[in-house]
Amino acid sequence: MTLNILFSDDDARWGMWEAPLRAAFTTRDLSANLHRTQDNPADVHYVIYAPSSGLLDFSPFTSLRAVLSAWAGVDQVVDNETITCPITRMSDDGLKSGMVEYVTGHVMRYHLGLDQHVNNPEHLWRPETSPKLAKDRTIGILGLGALGLACAQTLPHIGFDVHGWSRSAKQVDNITTHKGTEGLTAILSTSDLIVLLLPDTPQTRHVINAETLAHMKASACLINAGRGALVDEPELIIALNNNAITHATLDVFETEPLPKDSPFWSMPNVTVTPHIAAETRPETAAALIAENIWRNESGQEMRYVVDRKTGY
Ligand code: NDP
Ligand code: OXD
Repeated sequence: MTLNILFSDDDARWGMWEAPLRAAFTTRDLSANLHRTQDNPADVHYVIYAPSSGLLDFSPFTSLRAVLSAWAGVDQVVDNETITCPITRMSDDGLKSGMVEYVTGHVMRYHLGLDQHVNNPEHLWRPETSPKLAKDRTIGILGLGALGLACAQTLPHIGFDVHGWSRSAKQVDNITTHKGTEGLTAILSTSDLIVLLLPDTPQTRHVINAETLAHMKASACLINAGRGALVDEPELIIALNNNAITHATLDVFETEPLPKDSPFWSMPNVTVTPHIAAETRPETAAALIAENIWRNESGQEMRYVVDRKTGY
C-alpha cells in the first residue's frame, strides 16, 4: 500500500527535509507519497510535525497512524487531545552531537574563565586567574535522557566530576546519579555548573526557582539548554542581580523569540543564545522518521514513543 505522509513544518524546513526524507523512504523500501500540503486530511497516514507549522487540530486526520515530531521536545504537542494515535519524538546523532558541543563549549568558557581575558579593557596582567583543573570542578546535569546523558558521558573525558539528576534511578559509569527532591538539593548545592536538559512537563516547570536557586553556590553558573519553562525567569533575574549565582547562559525562554525589551539581553551576567543549542539535522533525522514508519507498518514498536502521561 502507498502511504500518504504530510510534512507539517515551515517552508524553509521543507527545502531542507524533502530530499533526505525521500532518500530515507527509498532506503527503507517504503512506498510513500510525501506531501507538503494535503487537501484530503482523511487520507494522511503519518504527519511529520514541528510546532512552527501551526497545526493544532488533528481531528480531520481520521486515518492517522502516528505523529512523528521533528523536535526532541514535545511540550507543544503532547497535550493535544485531537491526537489519538502515538506520538514519537526526535532523537538522533546530529542532535546529540550539537548538544554535546554546545554544552561543552559553554562549560569550558566558564571553567577557563575566558570572559575575563576576552574583555580586558584595562590590559591587566593577572596570573592569578590561572584556571583550576577540570577534576576540581563539579558539573550537575539535570536530565539524563538522550541529550543529558550524551553530555554527561562526554565531560568526564575532560576530567570533570559529573553528577546527573533524573526521574528514575540510574547507574552510569563515571557519573554520580541522583533522583528525587533530596537528589536535586544535593546536586544543586555541590555543583559549580548546572546544565538543564529536562523536558518541559508539569513536574519540571520552574524547577529552578527562588528556593532551588538558594541551594546553588554563589560561584555557580547555570546553562539552560532545555526549555524556558524550567526556570522561573523573574526569580532567576532576582538571584542574578543579587549575585546569588554568578552567571546564566540561556538558550531557551518562556517567550521565544526573546522580546527585545527582556532584561536578559542587557544583564552583564547573562548570555543569551537564540534556541540554537542543538538543531535537528534532516540528513540524520530523516532516517529515524523512515525507520519508525517502517517499524509501525511491519508491526514493530516505534522508537522514542512519547509517554503522554509523563509528558515526554
Ligand atoms: P529525554 O526524554 O531523552 O530525557 C529527558 C530526561 O529528563 C530523562 O532523563 C528524564 O528522566 C528526565 N526527567 C523528566 N522529568 C523529570 C522529573 N520530573 N524529574 C527529574 N528528571 C526528569 O529528552 P532529551 O534528552 O532528548 O531532550 C531533553 C530536552 O532538551 C527536550 O525535551 C527539549 O525540551 C530540549 N531540547 C532543546 C534543544 C535546544 O536546541 N535548546 C534541542 C533539543 C532538545 P528519566 O531518565 O528517569 O526518564
Ligand atoms: C527540539 C528543539 O526540541 O529544537 O528539538 O528544541
